[in-house]
Amino acid sequence: MKFPENFLWGAATASHQVEGNTENDWTEWEGATAKLKVKSSKLKVWPDYILSSYPNPLQEENYISGRACDHYNRFKEDFDIAKSLGHTAHRFSIEWSRIEPEEGKFDEKEIEHYRQVILALRERGIEPLVTLWHWTLPLWLRDKGGIVAKKFPEYFARYAEKVVSKLSTPGVENGVRFWITINEPLVISSHSYLKGNWPPQIKNPIKYLGAVKNLIKAHIKAYDKIKSIDSESLVGIAKHQIYFEAYENHSINRIMKSFADWHWNFYFLNKIKDKQDFIGLNHYFHKTAGGKNKNEKISDIGWELYPEAIYHVLKELKKYNKPIYITENGLADVQDKYREWFIKESLKNVHKAIEEGVAVRGYMYWSLLDNFEWAHGFWPRFGLTEIDYKTLERKIRPSAYKYAEIIKNNGIENYTN
Ligand code: BGC
Repeated sequence: MKFPENFLWGAATASHQVEGNTENDWTEWEGATAKLKVKSSKLKVWPDYILSSYPNPLQEENYISGRACDHYNRFKEDFDIAKSLGHTAHRFSIEWSRIEPEEGKFDEKEIEHYRQVILALRERGIEPLVTLWHWTLPLWLRDKGGIVAKKFPEYFARYAEKVVSKLSTPGVENGVRFWITINEPLVISSHSYLKGNWPPQIKNPIKYLGAVKNLIKAHIKAYDKIKSIDSESLVGIAKHQIYFEAYENHSINRIMKSFADWHWNFYFLNKIKDKQDFIGLNHYFHKTAGGKNKNEKISDIGWELYPEAIYHVLKELKKYNKPIYITENGLADVQDKYREWFIKESLKNVHKAIEEGVAVRGYMYWSLLDNFEWAHGFWPRFGLTEIDYKTLERKIRPSAYKYAEIIKNNGIENYTN
């Protein structure tokens, strides 16, 4: 089962989740809510294999990103791991709060830091895919209203302009070719303004829609800016797609599916369809409209493991006629019990979509490292590489070597179901 030539293989991370010592809206929120999270975690029943890892959901330090994986200082060591596993691409994000800690004041030292990150990847033969914004906000911007602030699109485009003009291809030897403006616009908008379980914890549908619209504007503005600086760059977003399945194909369930698709999967993409060079696909979920998921296998955070779903979401993206890079796909699995199976099965489904004409050009597993899983904290382990949060020692998981074999063969050999 061979993949196309020059298919990009790798993994992804995001600044706040791995770097350590960030100062943004999340850092403050984590400090203010950690105690409460411990309290509500005590109401749940946790398996021993979760409670025996460190930190666990009953410990306050679990909820505070702190030094995280110290990837900010150890990125070279981490890219050595990626290289040793044969990765040819790596997705990471730039931390806005480091680049623009005060409104309109850009920190050249931090831009230089990311230049070194890019260089380190290039030196190892790894193509960088760079996300400009993976959810965390500088404090000044939070104080101005964050993503619902009227001027958010302007602020974002100004930040994008600064970063891209310093790090994109024409100006910079070894510069970046792939830019991802925004990570999962609907996920950040809905958690922050609809479900109210992420900062600033508001539950207001009008604000939610306002946030989504603002992110559409922000993407379009940034897209135009980036292309005006570097017309050869490739610009997209990382879009969270869910496979909604109409239970037993009943007509009412098909209507529910269409509505969910329209809102969650296609609304944003339709609005930006002429302002993207590729689609970045982040994929984790399958939902059965009008029925229940079978949940035959679930990950440590209770998400159904249903690798067929990626085939369907890919097919549903075909209509946009753009190259697709899978910018996230993965699972929390501290015992590394399902990871090998999940990666192989997912890739089998990706391959099937490619055979049916979907232009998939790369796959980035989430994540290269265990990391800070937002409101859950550190306990969910998504990494190809395990992090010992006491010593910061890195240990490559067995499934990562299996993924490396697939990469080496540019495909799956002797695959049996
Ligand atoms: C996000 C990541 C997150 C992952 C697993 C994606 O929605 O982009 O930041 O860690 O899912 O939940």
